[in-house]
Amino acid sequence: MITMTDIVREGHPTLTEVAKDVAMPPSHEDKKMLTDMLQFIKNSQDEETAKKYKLRAGVGLAAPQLGISKRMLAVHFEDFKGKSYSDGYFNPKIISHSVEITYLSSGEGCLSVDREVPGYVPRYARITVTATNLAGEIVKLRLKDYAAIVFQHEIDHLNGIMFYDHINNSEPFSAPANAKPCDVN
Ligand code: NI
Repeated sequence: MITMTDIVREGHPTLTEVAKDVAMPPSHEDKKMLTDMLQFIKNSQDEETAKKYKLRAGVGLAAPQLGISKRMLAVHFEDFKGKSYSDGYFNPKIISHSVEITYLSSGEGCLSVDREVPGYVPRYARITVTATNLAGEIVKLRLKDYAAIVFQHEIDHLNGIMFYDHINNSEPFSAPANAKPCDVN
């Protein structure tokens, strides 16, 4: 099973590389890795398992965070309306996005970053993503608000981008133009 010792931290070269496409159909090895990644995220949210293996809770994990430069990511979370997202994706691609921007008023965190980095991370409020899921189906996901933020954070990892790369250094808490926070009404 994947534990925190498998997760590479900021400074590791894989985190700043553009990851390579996964050959389709996925190999047994790639499928197994992605399945393990999804299981890690589930474990990290399970109180007992997380405590036993000292897992920090996360909602998503991208292969570059394991030092693997391949375009795959796993997510396991509920949006603010209780809709659940739980799957692994190969070669996810944002095919369209809104003009409007959103952000989490609490900022973002990352399992590869062992420190708090304060500031708003501007994200597209809505995105459409195509990918191949763990079941081998080609899917098209229309995502908004929190779900859109989680996928953009993880897809960024496939492009060598960290969440703090988006923070306005001189004014980390100035609201981005065209933006509404997704977690405050
Ligand atoms: Ni991250």
